[in-house]
Amino acid sequence: MEIRFILNGRPQAVETDPDRRVVDLLREGLQCTGTKEGCGSGECGACTILVDGESRLACLMVAAQLEGRQVTTIEGLADGQDLHPLQKAFVECGAVQCGFCTPGMILSAAALLTEKPAPTREEIREGLSGNLCRCTGYQKIVDAVEAAAPLLHQDAAPTPGKPAPGSSGRQGILLPERSAGEGDPARALPGLRTAARSGQPKGGATAGRSVFLPESLAELWSCLDKEPGAAVFAGGTDLFVLLRAGRRTVPALIGLERIAELQAIREEGEFLWIGAGATHGRLLAEARIGETLPVLARALRTLGSPQIRHMGTLGGNLCTASPAGDALPPLYVLDAELVLRSSKGERRLPIKEFITGPGKTRLSEGEILTEVRVRKPAAFNVQHFEKIGQRKALACSVASLSALVRISEAGKIEAVRLAWGSVGETVVTAPLVEALLTGRQSAPGLWTEAAALARQSVSPIEDLRATAAYRRAVSGNLLLRLGASLTSRT
Ligand SMILES: Cc1cc2nc3c(=O)[nH]c(=O)nc-3n(C[C@H](O)[C@H](O)[C@H](O)COP(=O)(O)OP(=O)(O)OC[C@H]3O[C@@H](n4cnc5c(N)ncnc54)[C@H](O)[C@@H]3O)c2cc1C
Ligand code: FES
Ligand code: FES
Repeated sequence: MEIRFILNGRPQAVETDPDRRVVDLLREGLQCTGTKEGCGSGECGACTILVDGESRLACLMVAAQLEGRQVTTIEGLADGQDLHPLQKAFVECGAVQCGFCTPGMILSAAALLTEKPAPTREEIREGLSGNLCRCTGYQKIVDAVEAAAPLLHQDAAPTPGKPAPGSSGRQGILLPERSAGEGDPARALPGLRTAARSGQPKGGATAGRSVFLPESLAELWSCLDKEPGAAVFAGGTDLFVLLRAGRRTVPALIGLERIAELQAIREEGEFLWIGAGATHGRLLAEARIGETLPVLARALRTLGSPQIRHMGTLGGNLCTASPAGDALPPLYVLDAELVLRSSKGERRLPIKEFITGPGKTRLSEGEILTEVRVRKPAAFNVQHFEKIGQRKALACSVASLSALVRISEAGKIEAVRLAWGSVGETVVTAPLVEALLTGRQSAPGLWTEAAALARQSVSPIEDLRATAAYRRAVSGNLLLRLGASLTSRT
């Protein structure tokens, strides 16, 4: 099929299999060999590109997803012979040794500096946490980004009679100027928007799998009817890893990313409704989530890397139903209700009934998760999330604890809800521990007793990340830490 998009400011119309990995299309089809492939599974960041200004991983995207998008690779940063300020800073600060990680690092830095013009060193580390370097070390890389930051935004200042490079969109701040129309897919590729709005599922059958990108639920039902064995994907950060590893095979792919009905976040009285297709990044950017559901926001902040959060969705996390899924324990304590829809109708299930085991849910054939409904937890004055992983970023949880607590000024625990991640086949709740704590005065002795009971309540397994004994001990320790923070309040 033909895919049309803007690559480094210039229109492209490329004939390719719709399910070809973007990293392969860029490197082999379009000679953008600056996009590197390290791990091929989302872990190293070497394949980072910008899609509509956001950092994404080209190894976990398929070509059809590029239709109508603006893509920036490292080749698009320099302006002819003039290196981009970030590239200059990397050279001047000695932030490049073998150079394999450098294109991905620079594009992640570009995305970060667009969002945060003057980041702290800690914020730079966080912004680059999805990019691994095996030879330079991170100190000089952070130095380079810190040195480039003020130069970029100086360049972006408007000059009389000339629009600021940043005035036309997020990418503009950081990229060399192109001639008029080149940055706008609709102007550069006449007919593109018309095609995108035509209501026809995009994609097509080729030697590879068909990829469909419906733009409404009505189109989705029609795709699902026509392609009964097709796999649905949202961000692809779980599914494409499985496909790549050969742990799953599917005849066709149906992407949810263009269905606006799945992205909405809305408030109705005491409820927040979150579209299943909202990415973690989108949720974190939404003030309502941070203010009303800090337990969920804190969990999402620890999930994956900036690139994974730009791609992965809440719905994908729930439907993967991994015991290590970071959004699950917060949604258990929030008693979330999930809305499942198919062409035949809608049903609702409490999250505890939706997830039935590791990787198992109550989703039926042809059904998708459309929304998550959460009652605002006004009755609780403490929301808590803590995750133990093997490292700070890109760490799958070894154990996590989510909690909602209502505690009086005098330190009496009036109500408590607890849920642990990664210490059982699914999320673990512990009604006995909650009963022990409720109505009692927060005190070290009480929390020691509760931690002992929590260790008996979990049923962890051993895997490459941790032994069962370690996970059991940590489950109690997480509760002790919650207790210490509550006791110190009073
Ligand atoms: C490098 C890396 C690091 C990661 N780190 C973490 C981490 O720290 N914590 C964590 O929890 N996860 C992590 N993940 C896993 C993953 O990123 C998350 O689970 C993410 O939320 C998945 O969302 P997605 O939209 O990409 O799912 P997809 O891959 O698109 O889909 C996953 C599954 O859900 C189904 N699905 C998706 N959306 C729907 C829907 N609306 N209705 C019905 N079915 C649907 C798909 O068919 C598929 O089976 C990591 C993944 C990678 C590659
Ligand atoms: S190649 Fe490692 S994240 Fe894509
Ligand atoms: S410079 Fe070699 S991996 Fe970073």
